[in-house]
Order: sequence, then structure tokens, then C-alpha cells
Amino acid sequence: MGMRILGWGTALPDKVVTNADLEKTLDTSDEWIIERSGIRERRIGDSTTDLAVGAGRAAIEQAGVDPASIGLMILATTTPDQQVPATSAQVHHELGLSGGAFDLNAACSGFVYALVTANAMLSTGPNRILVVGAETLSRITDWTDRNTAVLFGDGGGALVVESVPDEGQLLAWDLGLDAEARHILQADHGGYIKMDGREVFKRAVRVMVDSAKRTLEQAKVRPDEVKLLVPHQANIRIIQAACDRLGIDREKAALVMHRTGNTSSASIPLALVDAIEQGRLEDGDLVLLAGFGAGMTWGSALIRWQA
Ligand code: UT7
Repeated sequence: MGMRILGWGTALPDKVVTNADLEKTLDTSDEWIIERSGIRERRIGDSTTDLAVGAGRAAIEQAGVDPASIGLMILATTTPDQQVPATSAQVHHELGLSGGAFDLNAACSGFVYALVTANAMLSTGPNRILVVGAETLSRITDWTDRNTAVLFGDGGGALVVESVPDEGQLLAWDLGLDAEARHILQADHGGYIKMDGREVFKRAVRVMVDSAKRTLEQAKVRPDEVKLLVPHQANIRIIQAACDRLGIDREKAALVMHRTGNTSSASIPLALVDAIEQGRLEDGDLVLLAGFGAGMTWGSALIRWQA
């Protein structure tokens, strides 16, 4: 048994906050933010439920399936709207899905974790699953802290996946974490994100590259055979360093961070859907997803694209 991707969708809040907007309240500059992160603007607003519903609905419509035929939803998020119940409950209700739903928190690696989980569950349970990554990081961002405020944004992305009797599209994956680094990126209940940016940067490149290599080796695929790299959208320099170390051309990376900022669990589906909509993928192309995040978690997955 394997997994087939049936539909994809995204949602972003209407409100655009540019670097110039942030210059008005923070000791920062458009030039610094672009040079150090690659981010030019981000979207702010809505709830995690709204963004998950928006992205999920778009993916279901694109898949052309009855929402009630989807027997499970996995919502990757680090910013649930409430502690209890899980945000996935309201999203499931608003979309009219059947079966169960749960939230999954693996920070910015969350979407890869959710996709791998869906792939496993398809072989034993529901034959259609909605996988969503949605975040409202703006709610846990300290807008007076220039170290973090310039980086984060809100958004959502989703895939509808279905079981198939053959190998399917998910060829290999690798998930992991290093809890010794859990203190370098954290937010307490009711608090804001605190981050040792330099330390996260160093470790991010290393874990993303190592995880991606394990996934490629498992699938017996060479880096130069990868058509599209869909990395977590945290910093353009992390992505470029990872490309160089992996031996994947920088031009093969899907990038949306310049207009979305870092949207944690939403960033990989936002970048993937953008690449699909730009026509960057043809049937048979190999797509490598690679994420890292608080925990410190990492996850990578290799997909053979089939529209
Ligand atoms: O998904 C979550 C994962 N998070 C990440 O992946 C973030 C990883 N880290 C990064 O992306 C980068 O470390 C940052 C973008 C956060 C920072 O870039 P950097 O090149 O590592 O800068 P830095 O922290 O070494 O700071 C350089 C200087 C410092 O000033 P001094 O000490 O050299 O005088 C900072 O105080 O830049 C200063 N600085 C700023 N200046 C203008 C820090 N933030 C800002 C700012 N505007 N917003």
C-alpha cells in the first residue's frame, strides 16, 4: 500500500506587514532583514482554525472529492487556538469531514511528521486523509523583540491524500529529534517565542542535510536526481547552505519566505503548492521535503510527483 496526493491548497491572511512597516516600531531595517533572512513581508491575522479551514477547503475542492469521504484529519500546528479542545476538532466540523481528527505538534517539522503519519495510517485505516499545516505565529511573537519579530508570519497549507495498492508517491522518509537542543527555541504557555538564532541556524543546516541524506539513501536516489527541494522557510541562507552541502542546485529550492516569513508547520505546504502552481513539477519528478524546528525536530520525505 502507498499514498497518492489528490489535492492541494493554501490560505494566507489578507493583512500584509512589510519590513518597512516593522522599521517604524523596531530598531531594524528592510536591508538587514532581507540580507540576513530573505524575508520581505509576511501575512498576519485570522485564527489557526480559519487558516486550516481555508487551506483544507481549497485542497478538497481541488481534489474534487466529497469531504465526507475523508476519514481522518491531521493538523500540524504549534499555535492551536485553544489548549482544549484540539483545533482540529473545529476544523473537522467546519469542513464536514468524517472519522477522527487530531493536532500534531512537531514545531516547524510538523507538516513532514503529519504526512509520514498519514502515509502509515492509510495502510490500516481510512483511505483518504486531509493533512494540514496551519499557524498563527503572530500570536506568540513579541512584536517589540527585533530578534524574532522580523521572522514570523501566519498561514496554512494542506494536502488530500489517498491510499493506493502500489508503492505510492511517498518513497522514503526520516524523522528525528535532539531534545538536548530544546532550550534554543521555545515559548511558554501564554508567552512568546524566545530563540538563540545563531545556534538554531548552525544546527538547522546540519540536521536538515543529515536527514535529507538519510532519506535519499533509503530511496537510492542521488541528490542531482532531485527536481525540487521544498525546505522549511526560515532563512534563505539556511536553505542555500543546505543546498550546497547536499549538492542540490540552489535554483531547485521552492521559496515563498520572501512574502510569507517563517510560518512553521505551514511553510512546507505553502512552498510546495506555490511550486505546483508555478508549473515547476512534471509527473515523475522527485520532490524532497526537508524541515527542522523546535525540539529540536527534523523531518524529510521524498515524493515522486504525480498530478
Ligand atoms: O523555524 C524556526 C527556526 N528558526 C530559525 O531557523 C532561525 C535561525 N536563525 C536565523 O535565521 C538567524 O540567526 C537570524 C535571522 C535570527 C539572525 O541572523 P544572524 O546573521 O545570525 O544575526 P545575529 O544573531 O548574529 O546578529 C547580528 C547582529 C547583532 O548585533 P551585534 O551583536 O553584531 O551588534 C544583532 O543584535 O544583528 C543584530 N540584530 C538585528 N539588527 C537589525 C538582530 N536582529 C536584528 C534586526 N535588525 N531585526
